[in-house]
Amino acid sequence: MKQSLLAILLVISVVGYTQTNIIPTPSFQNISKEKRVITGSVLTVEEGVLSQAELRFLQMILAADGLQLQTSQKDPDIRFSWRKHLLPEAYGIVIGEDIEIAFGSSTGAFYGMLSVLQMMEPKSGEMQFAKGIIEDAPAFQWRGLHLDVSRHFFTVTEVKEFLEFMALYKFNTFHWHLTDDQGWRIEIKQYPKLTEIGAFRDSTVIGHYRDTPRQYNHTRYGGFYTQEQVRDVVAFAKELHITVVPEIEMPGHSRAALAAYPELSCTGEQLGVPGLWGIFEDIYCANEASIQFLQNVLVEVLDMFPSEYIHIGGDEAPKTRWNESEVCQQVMRENGLKDAHELQSYFIKRMDTFLTERGRKLIGWDEILEGGLSPNSAVMSWRGEAGGIEAAKQKHNVVMSPTSYCYFDYYQSSHDSEPLAIGGYLPLEKVYEFNPIPKGLSKEEAKYILGGQANIWTEYIPTFEQVQYMAFPRALALIQGLWCQKKPDYATFLKAYLTYHEDFLKKMGVNRSMSIHIPRRTIKRTDNGVAYSWVGLDTQEVYKIQSSEEGVEGSTVELKGGEAIAFQKGRGDYDVALEYGQDEPIHFEVHRSDILGAAVEMISPPHRKYDHNGGLNLVDGIRGTIPWKGDQWLGFNKEEVTFVVALDSTAELKSYSIGFLQDNGSWIYLPEKVEVFVSEDKESWKSIHTHTMQTGTESINRETMTVYGKGKYVKFKIHPIEAIPEGSGGAGYIPWTFIDEIQIKIE
Ligand code: ACM
Repeated sequence: MKQSLLAILLVISVVGYTQTNIIPTPSFQNISKEKRVITGSVLTVEEGVLSQAELRFLQMILAADGLQLQTSQKDPDIRFSWRKHLLPEAYGIVIGEDIEIAFGSSTGAFYGMLSVLQMMEPKSGEMQFAKGIIEDAPAFQWRGLHLDVSRHFFTVTEVKEFLEFMALYKFNTFHWHLTDDQGWRIEIKQYPKLTEIGAFRDSTVIGHYRDTPRQYNHTRYGGFYTQEQVRDVVAFAKELHITVVPEIEMPGHSRAALAAYPELSCTGEQLGVPGLWGIFEDIYCANEASIQFLQNVLVEVLDMFPSEYIHIGGDEAPKTRWNESEVCQQVMRENGLKDAHELQSYFIKRMDTFLTERGRKLIGWDEILEGGLSPNSAVMSWRGEAGGIEAAKQKHNVVMSPTSYCYFDYYQSSHDSEPLAIGGYLPLEKVYEFNPIPKGLSKEEAKYILGGQANIWTEYIPTFEQVQYMAFPRALALIQGLWCQKKPDYATFLKAYLTYHEDFLKKMGVNRSMSIHIPRRTIKRTDNGVAYSWVGLDTQEVYKIQSSEEGVEGSTVELKGGEAIAFQKGRGDYDVALEYGQDEPIHFEVHRSDILGAAVEMISPPHRKYDHNGGLNLVDGIRGTIPWKGDQWLGFNKEEVTFVVALDSTAELKSYSIGFLQDNGSWIYLPEKVEVFVSEDKESWKSIHTHTMQTGTESINRETMTVYGKGKYVKFKIHPIEAIPEGSGGAGYIPWTFIDEIQIKIE
């Protein structure tokens, strides 16, 4: 480098410093307010370091501002200097009178360029770059995004676009979910029926799969990638420093393959490619024929994908068929396996050996821990963090992808304008909290965490536009957790995002979600009810609120950000419309009752994932709805759920209602029984009601129960069913209980 670092540091210390808007935030940055100005609309970069593909990609970024990138040997604006000591993905930038990028590998040079371009401020007829120094290297080696192309198919062009967005933000691993029940998407020459039959379904469920009655469109849907196309995508990704990890699902999520080759199932029955989402009982039979078939498939897959890791799925494989199958029972006897979980472990071990012998490594969803982990496999932890912790303790490599931070198929706001999603609630700031190293690992064990990734399951994402909507801006929050050694606080990140990236993504043609602009509601107790207030990204914003009681003329009030509107205990519901900014008003209903805003003591605290406002959530006047977006319902994962509502004074009870959510696909079940007690002193309790619930198919159960009893305190004891029934996802586990809004009528 031409200038010494010291000289730059001196300059900076005189003129003060600022921050860049680079995302992911660099490890070290010392940036001055002085600018290096390049006039004209052409940026030149030293020849001979960047590949043609990289130059094309970088040129595309500049083109969004009407600028050009050219290579030059003589006096380029951006020079490179190779540094032997730099780690492969590390880079440094010094901007003084020149712009210099220090790199140790081609990836470092590329990442340095990406950061330099994020520092550029185009002004009329010139480009400005803040002077300063950056030193940067990633915290984790696996920085991934996953895309499910089975539930909905995305073209090669779209997949390449996805890879480009990943590259912009220094993601380096693309997990390509190529096979599932609803479509097999990769050509396998030895088994042509996989794509002839397995790549197409005759119908697709309309709306949410929980909707009753279920409706289907009867349109043939499908598609697949030829081997040539796959190779093209893998090569394209490599140019952008991205490794493609293919996933071939086994032994579950295999209905598309079984539609093509029914002899591979336990029953041999000819079933079609399903147009419904969920978990299916028909899976590959755990016999030699299936193992041989899958290994033959893998031979071709290995030939297309040079990645170190090959993903074999392993999740959500019901054992119903295996338990019924004489063939599977025989495999178990011959191999000394005590149950179907050990049989799954045996099945996965066979794949592990197969891949290991070919110099590759197996990775699978955390269910591969059940029945014993095979020796060389890595675990992708999705059902929370426990699987990842367990695997790391067993000295296996781990990629963290827990639903609570990494499932980008979840809702990103609870606003009605969100497109239909599978469920769940994962706003931007929650993604920002993601730390791939779970608590409870020693330093030594933490070394097994390779990194993390977000998953984009596409049951409810039919278009590529919507893939972008679900991925952005959340991918930017995620990469902070995967790249930064020490990430800045959320407010700093948000400022960088809003200052630069929201516009940048738009310029790049990315359909990013604007959900973060929707003002956030806060609910507080008052002396006699509740009060709602809103704050958006702009705290000065003024909201107009119209509320009208059923059959009564409405009133309109204006609130500044943070100011509150109150509702009192009593009977009668309100319709409320909140107008903000340019968008459609937000509508919601306030359901009043005699315990609106009452003190609720949670004897059983909600699970931390679904604890939104604690007990107040149950009496805040706002009922949980479906599709459930997570922030309305309190979720419990216990054998018993107990809480106590304090009335203002001793009163005669007339009736109560509790809202329960049922979503068996998400392991959420209606409870078996509700017991109600009253007390004067919270010491001696009198039972006044027991309600045994009927299992129904409705998504929300909110029955009003007549009761007689008098007291100052009312205790509810809810008894979930003992375990999720056999044959359902999560069989044997304690189900989730989701509750929202309790109403009590008193004399
Ligand atoms: C998964 O979400 N079933 C891995």
